[in-house]
Amino acid sequence: MELPNYLKTASEKLIEGMNVSAMSDSARELSRRYMEESGQGKSLLNKDEEAAVYSLMRMPATFSAVSFALDKVCEVSDFVPRSLLDAGAGTGGASFAANEFFALDKIICLERELAMENIGRKLMSYGEDKVLKEAEYIRTDLVEEATKANSNNKKYLSDLVISSYVLNEMSVENRMKVVKWLWENTGKMLVIIEPGTPVGFSNIRRIRDYLIEQGAYVCAPCPHMDNCHILGDDWCHFTVRVQRGKIHKMLKDADVPYEDEKFSYIAFSREPIEIKKFGRIMRHPITQKGRMELSLCTREGIHTKTVTKKDSEGYKAAKKANCGDIYPFI
Ligand SMILES: C[S@@+](CC[C@H](N)C(=O)[O-])C[C@H]1O[C@@H](n2cnc3c(N)ncnc32)[C@H](O)[C@@H]1O
Repeated sequence: MELPNYLKTASEKLIEGMNVSAMSDSARELSRRYMEESGQGKSLLNKDEEAAVYSLMRMPATFSAVSFALDKVCEVSDFVPRSLLDAGAGTGGASFAANEFFALDKIICLERELAMENIGRKLMSYGEDKVLKEAEYIRTDLVEEATKANSNNKKYLSDLVISSYVLNEMSVENRMKVVKWLWENTGKMLVIIEPGTPVGFSNIRRIRDYLIEQGAYVCAPCPHMDNCHILGDDWCHFTVRVQRGKIHKMLKDADVPYEDEKFSYIAFSREPIEIKKFGRIMRHPITQKGRMELSLCTREGIHTKTVTKKDSEGYKAAKKANCGDIYPFI
């Protein structure tokens, strides 16, 4: 799912008058900081120009990853949120995505960096819906919030809580504290998105184990609540292809007109999810003459399923399927 047009236009307006070579320098510096300095609880960005460049460079991808996750959540649950807590909102990528899926009445964005908040607020002001224009940005540190909260603290209780590309910026100890606190503030569904790397996935796996113990129900992507079946140094991740505009291509020194964003995600429900028997497609389906091979995660484990033309319905479904989809004919 691509950024809506109003948001593309708004992002481009942000950089009107900005010096192109300064923007390219910022883009390079931001990439370096996110690669080398993340995971230590450090402030990675604190100037408005950097936040504007961040929104151009990263928001199309984070928006698409969150949209992918929400799409999968909606596929397996009939959950209807009215309020959203966007924790570590940055410039609002997750809020914009959630607004495309749900008729929300209220959005709260928690964010530590003033620069991110400034740019997020500007982008929201271009939003087509009242709920975006009225989104409440609160400048706060999630770790501090989680540390000072007592067990009854549900200060920001919202139907839907999203943490997108945030928890990986924290130390392990702080991350788990924040996860506990996010879950306490979750009315219905908590969705966590992390980079699609072995480290991002190991964060998700650890959070999964912890929240299942706390009574959470896994909604997606796992089709079961048992121990994760992924073995060894493999990791569960998905990909969205994001089209690059002219400025994006320039900022990233890119040749191709798209980028593939890899991410891991998990969604937890407060209500039990009706577990239907299906598999989750873990890799791009392999197409051969008259047959297809699907790598499926199922309740029983991960296995490769071969589907041939003879399995008429199953074959038709496999032909249309993509990595990350559910596949019912297991
Ligand atoms: C990589 S950005 C992701 C922004 C947005 N969620 C998205 O998906 O586009 C991470 C954001 O989390 C914020 N953040 C990181 N640690 C935080 C903390 N302890 N408290 C509040 N915000 C935090 C950063 O300032 C930054 O804006």
